[in-house]
Amino acid sequence: MTERCEITGLSKEDSNLYQYLHSQLIGELKLVSPSDETLNGFSKPLANTVSNHAVHKGDKKRKDGLFQHLEKSVASKFANSKLSVFGSSESGLALKSGDFDLCLQIPDAKQKKVIKKIGGMLRGQGMESIEILTRAKVPIVKFKDPRSGLNVDISINNSLALYNTKLLSMYADCDPRVKQLAICIKHWAMHRNVSDAPSGTLSSYAWSVLVINHLLEQQVVPNIQSGDSRTLVKIDEREYDLTMNNEIKIDSENNMKIEELVYSFFKNYATRNWTDEVISIRHGKAIPRDQKGWMNEEPSALDVINSQKEKPPRMGEHHLSIEDPFDLDHDLSRVVRAEGELRIRNELIRAASMFGSGSTWKEICETVDSDRLKHLEPDDLFHDLRDKSDDIVKNMLEKTKAEMQSLEKRVEALDAERHSNVRMARAMRGVIEETSDLKKEHKAIIIGLKDRNKEIDTIRNQRDKINSDIILPIHMIEDELAKVYTRLTEELDIHRVPSLEREKEHFAWFLELQAMHGKAREASELHQRFIEMVVEQKGEIKKLKIYETKHDDATSKLLDQEPLLKDKKINANEARSYDRRVQNIQRALRQRRGELHKLRREAGRLEAWLRKKSNSHSGERGRGRGRGGRKPKTSRPKEDSGPLTLGDISGLLSGLGNEASSKKTKKVSSKKAGMRKLGNLGAHRGSRGQYKKKE
Ligand code: UTP
Ligand code: MG
Repeated sequence: MTERCEITGLSKEDSNLYQYLHSQLIGELKLVSPSDETLNGFSKPLANTVSNHAVHKGDKKRKDGLFQHLEKSVASKFANSKLSVFGSSESGLALKSGDFDLCLQIPDAKQKKVIKKIGGMLRGQGMESIEILTRAKVPIVKFKDPRSGLNVDISINNSLALYNTKLLSMYADCDPRVKQLAICIKHWAMHRNVSDAPSGTLSSYAWSVLVINHLLEQQVVPNIQSGDSRTLVKIDEREYDLTMNNEIKIDSENNMKIEELVYSFFKNYATRNWTDEVISIRHGKAIPRDQKGWMNEEPSALDVINSQKEKPPRMGEHHLSIEDPFDLDHDLSRVVRAEGELRIRNELIRAASMFGSGSTWKEICETVDSDRLKHLEPDDLFHDLRDKSDDIVKNMLEKTKAEMQSLEKRVEALDAERHSNVRMARAMRGVIEETSDLKKEHKAIIIGLKDRNKEIDTIRNQRDKINSDIILPIHMIEDELAKVYTRLTEELDIHRVPSLEREKEHFAWFLELQAMHGKAREASELHQRFIEMVVEQKGEIKKLKIYETKHDDATSKLLDQEPLLKDKKINANEARSYDRRVQNIQRALRQRRGELHKLRREAGRLEAWLRKKSNSHSGERGRGRGRGGRKPKTSRPKEDSGPLTLGDISGLLSGLGNEASSKKTKKVSSKKAGMRKLGNLGAHRGSRGQYKKKE
């Protein structure tokens, strides 16, 4: 059984691991305050930290360049969208190694869909380490821009973060010490590994809030969220008090120097009563837990660490409570895990005690787990090549070029396949469209034929029915009518007057003939109409045959122009299936082009390194020969022992004729033009990496 501390319950190993916290918990910690002289000694190193790690003009330019490029890219993909910068890049509380936080605002967006679409877009642009986090509270896409080396987070509709960034930025504007203290604390927290929310410590943002809280307590800054007039804003159906009042002033001026502020920061949080208080910059000071209603939920960090269970329980909430300035339900320590809490508290006490024990700022910030920060080392494009012989690098170059060639072929093949599928889909649509008029007319005629047939049948039936009732053909009726009429109207021979009976018969016969004649005429008209319609019907049938021939002619003409369509079924469904194939190929193409992009860059880098080495050899030879030594034609970078700056690298890649680059570069002779060119390689993006849709 392991020996455990009677007070804290910590094992020996853990008591050593958290030695400062442990001695505080058992009442043995004695914090010695540094003398004025000792404290003064921190002034210069702290000033160096600020100037070495603050964001400078060049860093800002890189961010601006990337922002403009992304802004253009997203605007072309999402109508009515707005891309904004937030986080430390906007608030001014940034370390130059800090990430670049961007927020895309799109009204009524389907966030997951948008994030995935952005991921695809970035892949096509050759961005690296793309991660899509759709399950986070706010969906995020993370990636690295290989050109600027910046790590970027794009979140969707993260409106509240824009406001808290504004608040931090207003604090930064209050006093230069806000930025200075934030840089020193963030630098320390990063090197001591206590500023990484995903691994269970506080976020960089939470450390900024702790900085503001300390400066509020020290009366360096006024409480910007105070004041009688309140600004209430509804975001996603919830109301927030977003009051930010830059007219508030502080009563007494505080003249503490940065070294005093840094030391007092550590002392403040090392000795703070975390058990009973909640940090609240909204109130300008810590507030009692009872007032906030956030209690120390069990199990505590110590309970979790001391748990003998194979799977220790999850720590209860609200132990290092820090209220978000606007989202009052959000405790910024929610991400902190048990081990993280103990480490944070241990580190705060460690820093505070080291100030009074003769340690240097460098020692206080000594990096824990240096591998973790490797990606933050100054950009040295050639770090992995330094210990390799030229032959090995040449070999690497050959291999990269071979891979490039085979990938180029694959891209060409995919492109050709995509092209032929696009052609096929288009040709099909063309045939469907070109023949659609003919098809429509053909259909109209068929409908006409059917209707006319019905009418012809009706007329014929009516005609035949009338004819069956009439005993004489019309011409005979007319002859008979004429005869009877003459008989009835001729001059009478007085001696041969017909009998009345006979006269009546004649009249009746005349009337019957008249009625018959009317009907016969009707039948004759119907017959006429019948004939006309039959003729019309025959004409339409002829037309139908003409249209059928025309359609066949048009189709075969189009097929002659597009042999791809021979023996293919031509209909809208088939055309759509070709569209789908095009989309799939497009996706594969985007990925392959991204890979090709990387290979080209790698080949360029290897060539630049080999050239740099051969230049430095010839340079050495030149110096050996005294003053007369020839100067190398291309601009040489600094001594190769130190890391190269972006400018050096740009100079190498451009001045040394980057064979790997497919773009031809103009010769630049004047120094000014050369500088312009270097500038272009830096921030300017132009159309790089944008694989525009050709079709
Ligand atoms: P970061 O943790 O990246 O902070 O959160 P930062 O200030 O930008 O620090 P560095 O310089 O990159 O290390 C970015 C932004 O996300 C919002 C805040 O607006 C913060 O400025 N955020 C972060 C929250 O609103 N809540 C959180 O819990 C964390
Ligand atoms: Mg950030």
